Amino acid sequence: MQLGDQTVLVVDDEPSARDLCRKILKVQGFRVEEAESAARALEILERSLIDIVLTDVCMPGMDGMELLKIVKSRFVGTDTVIMTGFGSIPAAVEAMKLGAYDYITKPFKVDDFRRVFERLVALRDLAAENRSLREQLKTRHGYANLVGTAPKMQKVYRTILKASAKRHPVLILGESGTGKELVARAIHASSPWRDRPFVPVDCGALAPTLIESELFGHVRGAFTGATQNRQGLLASARGGTVFLDEIAELPVELQAKLLRALQEREVKPIGSNERTPMDARIIAATNQDIEAAIKRGSVRKDLYFRLNVVSIKMPPLRERKSDIAALVRYFVERHQGEEGRVAEVSSEAMARLMNYNWPGNVRELENCIQRALVLGAGPVIQTKDLPSNVLYQVGPPTEGPEISPLEEMERRAILEALRAAGGDRLRAAKMLGIGKTTIYRKLKEYRLGDEDLAKSA
Ligand SMILES: Nc1ncnc2c1ncn2[C@@H]1O[C@H](COP(=O)(O)OP(=O)(O)OP(=O)(O)O)[C@@H](O)[C@H]1O
Ligand SMILES: [Mg+2]
Repeated sequence: MQLGDQTVLVVDDEPSARDLCRKILKVQGFRVEEAESAARALEILERSLIDIVLTDVCMPGMDGMELLKIVKSRFVGTDTVIMTGFGSIPAAVEAMKLGAYDYITKPFKVDDFRRVFERLVALRDLAAENRSLREQLKTRHGYANLVGTAPKMQKVYRTILKASAKRHPVLILGESGTGKELVARAIHASSPWRDRPFVPVDCGALAPTLIESELFGHVRGAFTGATQNRQGLLASARGGTVFLDEIAELPVELQAKLLRALQEREVKPIGSNERTPMDARIIAATNQDIEAAIKRGSVRKDLYFRLNVVSIKMPPLRERKSDIAALVRYFVERHQGEEGRVAEVSSEAMARLMNYNWPGNVRELENCIQRALVLGAGPVIQTKDLPSNVLYQVGPPTEGPEISPLEEMERRAILEALRAAGGDRLRAAKMLGIGKTTIYRKLKEYRLGDEDLAKSA
């Protein structure tokens, strides 16, 4: 993190003291905001993202100690440094007890002042790094809550890590069910602003007027039913992340309004002439072909450029089949709790899962496992517990053996008949309405032996 990314709020009732602090901090590369009272400081904290509060202790009205207590309890992730008059060490000690990072006694030497801030920034960086490392270590199988180690996922993780340290917009593209929302949450969770809110907004689910007021807010009387002022999500996310899901569904006029908000870092609530600052970080996602959507005119090109500073392309599951086994284990573990038993997956069932091309991606796989856990009778998930579309895939599988659906059905029918007949081939043939020679020929053709029967039993 660079110093320029960090904002210090200087709180002091003496203008000359504020001036001096501002000058030193600016030279150090901080962004600086100022407040002449604790009350004013709280207003600023409410509306913008402050990393560090530097406050004098003795001020008319609310003093620095009270301010420190409020910052500690309400603005998680914001650090505080206290300034005390010469000789008021007890106050400094008290402040440290209350959770201040450090104290500076006035009058101070510029170098001492600087060192306090250098150390604090180093500490904040380290904390941010630790958090993202911890996220990575949470699971051996992937990153944050994302399972998968295929090269395409590794690339996704690297981008998440890079993007999380900054506040640029991120655009996540990918088919439905590939984990776009999970990625958005991972970026937020590994960012220094992880304690701020994460606000998902489904742009496709709400009526245009509703979504405008959701995002931008409205003032009382702006439209029928607007009985109260309401702050929009963009303004209320206070330094957090707003996740705009299905961005291509956002009406074009609102896309223009969103673009303006992003450029000016301000929003204008419906019916208001005043602008409110907004410092939310925007992550947008769509499962549509964005280039095509731009050509069609349903996505504004300028908004696309603005959002596309960092883009993450989620691979469809069929392009990272090597992750299927790990995902299956993960979902079995995650959902079996509900069923209260430990399930395994038969090797034939696993082969089927690996062979299927998963048009609904990870979500479809998760549903499939959940269903199997509910429907399956035994401690092992069997082929029969899998949904028929997984077993009889229409169209060629993208990887694995070339089996056409009809043959696949026949093979399964034979296996099932054999199982029902307890392995008696003649009885199975009778059940299937075929002759003795046919079943022997088929068994040979499909290379079906006793071990297949045992496996699927
Ligand atoms: N890599 C992954 N590891 C573990 N679970 C995953 C992974 N990817 C997706 N999932 C799970 O699959 C489901 C769908 O993921 P998510 O909602 O993030 O997809 P999406 O891309 O946003 O889909 P849509 O476009 O339909 O909204 C969720 O339950 C999520 O937890
Ligand atoms: Mg989604």
